[in-house]
Amino acid sequence: MKTFLMWVTAIALLLAFVSADNTPKIERISGSAGDVLEDDPVGKLKVYVYELPSKYNKKLLLKDPRCLTHMFAAEIFMHRFLLSSPVRTLNPEEADWFYTPIYPTCDLTPTGLPLPFKSPRMMRSAIQLISSNWPYWNRTEGADHFFVVPHDFGACFHYQEEKAIERGILPLLQRATLVQTFGQRNHVCLNEGSITIPPYAPPQKMQAHQIPPDTPRSIFVYFRGLFYDVNNDPEGGYYARGARAAVWENFKNNPLFDISTDHPTTYYEDMQRAIFCLCPLGWAPWSPRLVEAVVFGCIPVIIADDIVLPFADAIPWEEIGMFVAEEDVPKLDTILTSIPPEVILRKQRLLANPSMKRAMLFPQPAQPGDAFHQILNGLARKLPHDKSTYLKPGGKFLNWTSGPVGDLKPW
Ligand SMILES: *[C@@H]1O[C@H](CO)[C@@H](O)[C@H](O)[C@H]1NC(C)=O
Ligand SMILES: *[C@@H]1O[C@H](CO)[C@@H](O)[C@H](O)[C@H]1NC(C)=O
Repeated sequence: MKTFLMWVTAIALLLAFVSADNTPKIERISGSAGDVLEDDPVGKLKVYVYELPSKYNKKLLLKDPRCLTHMFAAEIFMHRFLLSSPVRTLNPEEADWFYTPIYPTCDLTPTGLPLPFKSPRMMRSAIQLISSNWPYWNRTEGADHFFVVPHDFGACFHYQEEKAIERGILPLLQRATLVQTFGQRNHVCLNEGSITIPPYAPPQKMQAHQIPPDTPRSIFVYFRGLFYDVNNDPEGGYYARGARAAVWENFKNNPLFDISTDHPTTYYEDMQRAIFCLCPLGWAPWSPRLVEAVVFGCIPVIIADDIVLPFADAIPWEEIGMFVAEEDVPKLDTILTSIPPEVILRKQRLLANPSMKRAMLFPQPAQPGDAFHQILNGLARKLPHDKSTYLKPGGKFLNWTSGPVGDLKPW
């Protein structure tokens, strides 16, 4: 066993050396989905931004500026981006898409935890307002409207999966296009036609922690984060469906695995020194690690069965990452050490492509190819709207009084 490990470590160091040497060479992903990342949405769609009272957006932010830095901040930055984007139109008659600037996740506990309990009422109130002040909502009941709903389970508006499933997507948003972080196949909280986006990770902060790209990757597997959520799930079978607990129990003493619950100040630097970065599910299937891994060129090892990844129609996740089934976590060491070096090198070269990193970030100011532009590309690809978008005169789908009674109270 010991010689095996030494051998593996030697290979890892060798790979680190070779890959460092290769970093400047950027591989184009010809013929595969990666090409779409370069698309320019300008000229392909027009977006009308509704004007709402500031209590739906800016006032919430004034009350709690921490909303600008948490992992759901895309709802704020997307608003700012659209206001000055060339795709914005001031004439709603020529709009392809309607955007309602609302920050449903900007409601934080004193410790900074966003809890979306008021979001349904707030959404309902905003939709009431746009549908009575403009004719466009009633024309489609939202089918040409999009909403940014980045919370854990999107427009299901609950942080616990069971409760989120029980609630389902807010009835008034059934026909809208939801731009959300949550993505899992065959899940009630993911509507067909939604756009899955990366969680927000602070671009400047990440930039500030960049180390020289030729730094050897001497860590084989890296992970920092919880294995058990002792407060909410002491046994560890429910949190992360047991996958994180399995990582810890199987590999806590394995020298190839640099894993711990401590978040060091060198977290970002460490990811740049690692070959593989574990991205297991937590309460939700996604986490900011996915963004961090791509930005720092560490091959993401995605452990979240049925996850739908951000911009999956544009980013070749199968080629840049590794997918490990939740039940295969105990075999993680064998799986990762038996990947041929040339496969690892190819993934690293693809990750070095700046278009991958750009697509993961919401920078200020925006840049061509960034996550804002990928969202617009996703909306543009859904055009033209098909006939079913527009209701026949007198037609109706939405039921304004369905859903939990608590959601029907005024906001
Ligand atoms: C849209 O429909 C609702 C009733 O479903 C109505 O109250 C509202 O006035 C309509 N909006 C416009 C602009 O006509
Ligand atoms: C709307 O939903 C409520 C509550 O679920 C239900 O009582 C009502 O019958 C529904 N209305 C229609 C028109 O389906």
